[in-house]
Amino acid sequence: MTKETSFQLSDAETIKKNAPAAEPERQYYFIQKVREILRARFEADVASGEALKRYGQEQLDRLLESGSFGTFCITTFGCQMNARDSEKLQGILEECGFLEAPSEDADFVLYNTCTVRENANLKVYGRLGYLNSQKKKHPSMMIALCGCMMQEEQVVEKIRKSYRFVDVIFGTHNIFKLAELIFDRLSKKGMVVDVWKGTDQIVEDLPTDRKYPFKSGVNIMFGCNNFCSYCIVPYVRGRERSRESEEIIKEIESLVADGVIEVMLLGQNVNSYGKTLETPITFAGLLRRVEKIEGLRRIRFMTSHPKDLSDELIEVMRDSKKICRHLHLPLQSGSSRILKEMNRRYTKEQYLSLVDKIKTAIPDISLTTDIIVGFPGETEEDFEETMDVVRKVRYDSAFTFIYSRRTGTPAASMENQVPEDVVKRRFDRLLEEVQAISAEVCGRDTGTVQEVLAEEVNDHAEGFLTGRLGNNTVVHFEGGPELLGTLVDVHLDESRGFYYMGTLVKKENQGGNDNEKA
Ligand code: SAH
Ligand code: SF4
Ligand code: F3S
Repeated sequence: MTKETSFQLSDAETIKKNAPAAEPERQYYFIQKVREILRARFEADVASGEALKRYGQEQLDRLLESGSFGTFCITTFGCQMNARDSEKLQGILEECGFLEAPSEDADFVLYNTCTVRENANLKVYGRLGYLNSQKKKHPSMMIALCGCMMQEEQVVEKIRKSYRFVDVIFGTHNIFKLAELIFDRLSKKGMVVDVWKGTDQIVEDLPTDRKYPFKSGVNIMFGCNNFCSYCIVPYVRGRERSRESEEIIKEIESLVADGVIEVMLLGQNVNSYGKTLETPITFAGLLRRVEKIEGLRRIRFMTSHPKDLSDELIEVMRDSKKICRHLHLPLQSGSSRILKEMNRRYTKEQYLSLVDKIKTAIPDISLTTDIIVGFPGETEEDFEETMDVVRKVRYDSAFTFIYSRRTGTPAASMENQVPEDVVKRRFDRLLEEVQAISAEVCGRDTGTVQEVLAEEVNDHAEGFLTGRLGNNTVVHFEGGPELLGTLVDVHLDESRGFYYMGTLVKKENQGGNDNEKA
């Protein structure tokens, strides 16, 4: 894009003044304005031959065919919440007239950042250096940063000072404003920074795109009130806010009408869903309503905090045909003393008896977890308690993390931080144990026929597809791309530790989406 444009900076004020105050109307208005500016620039660039130089013939043809006026690339760091936010951001960018580019050589590059551990944070700084060199080649390129890292004041300060080529910074509470922020950047020089400390606003009904046509994340709540002492999330995602169940149901119904057969209900602590709503409803109550949606085949959710997991939820899971037999139940530590310091509000014994209760009610459940090694003050005895829980529960898989000191959290100022080498040794021992158990547990369905959602064409073996069982285990099997997005029966021939090799048994009845499972 060249700098010449029919858009006059002096128009900007009038355009802003005339914008509707109410959301989402305001954003649809700015989407339209951004489109107009981009279109004018693009058309001028096509006429001058600039566009051909910038994009090359192939990409230019794609832009012209799709009626787009520039390219974008989003990189997502962090958890499923961020992944879902990125889909919303993508939807807005597409409405603005951007087309997804295969690489970061794009006109609009967005990093949706994570700050849960130091290394998530460092990755972003590392890659910003590369973006700077790209921008030197294409000065009209826009670089935007959003997500959890941007909620930290010291991060924004650092970027303002040392990464001045960044164009737009926004946070986790105002992603719906992307079009307006792009408009602001296009209409003035310098970095646009808009980070909110918190919000009670949930803006619904903005455009969204999906990575997979057949499955989708659905936010049921935002933020977190738990303040585990090591965790930055409550500070960067704000207080817990639940979406109205009607809105959630409406969204899932429209996803299903659009071809989705699996949803993942998302929240930092789904078990406390609904508590703050005017007409309170439990998470189990919400699941009962979601279950009734015709055409929806699989329901997943994440994450369950053990302290709030109710008997009602276990019952609903047990009786459900659609809720997947998988529960992610973060342990964090097996030592009751450390759990207390972590402010997790359960003991080792309570956790184990909860697991017993779940396994008794749903014997084929697959359990996964998160564990932190090296929390301040963790002794060898504390660590052995964690190993003990791992051996007793026998998780299908466990995400293991080395404790990372996050500025501003209570644990960061605890004095007895554990030396790095000690933590590393414990971490390796834990990983070995977790992997050995997982290899045994994951293979338990070998020799049976199971329903698999065919999700991707396998990159490594030609003619093969990759799918997932209800319990989330990966299965590779021979099959054509026409099966993608459908549930198929697969014989699990062999377990290879973390995944199966299988053979297709029969194709699902054609017409797929609105078939209820018998
Ligand atoms: N809400 C979820 C977790 C979200 S963060 C829950 O409560 O389970 C995902 C995982 O990152 C956590 O479960 C924890 O294991 C890990 N984590 C969070 N803060 C961390 C820190 N400071 N250091 C290391 N791991 C951390
Ligand atoms: Fe962090 Fe705890 Fe909230 Fe999970 S529940 S996001 S670990 S504070
Ligand atoms: Fe990271 Fe934010 Fe998720 S800090 S883990 S992206 S909520």
